[in-house]
Amino acid sequence: MSRILLCQRDELAPGELKKVANGDGDALCVYNLGGTFYATTDMCTHATASLAEGDMEDDLITCPVHWGQFHIPSGKAVTFPCERHLRTYKVIVTDREVYADTALEADEALADADSPV
Ligand code: FES
Repeated sequence: MSRILLCQRDELAPGELKKVANGDGDALCVYNLGGTFYATTDMCTHATASLAEGDMEDDLITCPVHWGQFHIPSGKAVTFPCERHLRTYKVIVTDREVYADTALEADEALADADSPV
């Protein structure tokens, strides 16, 4: 298991997101969707853009550069020009903290691997 700290549990309110540096150079984005935390890579798969600077609405993140969209729980690209899915990470929530296991995909990504959103 390769666990990194994303945030304190009370740091992000529902509807908020944040960019988190990863030790290997890639950043992650952590999202609070209605009290449930999710994590994906922060870099848009279309070009160079930080998704943490985008807009989150319901369970979608909209890229700030060309407005492509991804389904946050599964990482699926759902709106052109985004066609490649985001890498997702399994999230572990403790009493006070939220972690990502960078070795594992989110359960939602694995469950939806063969279906459109
Ligand atoms: S860089 Fe994200 S949609 Fe183009």
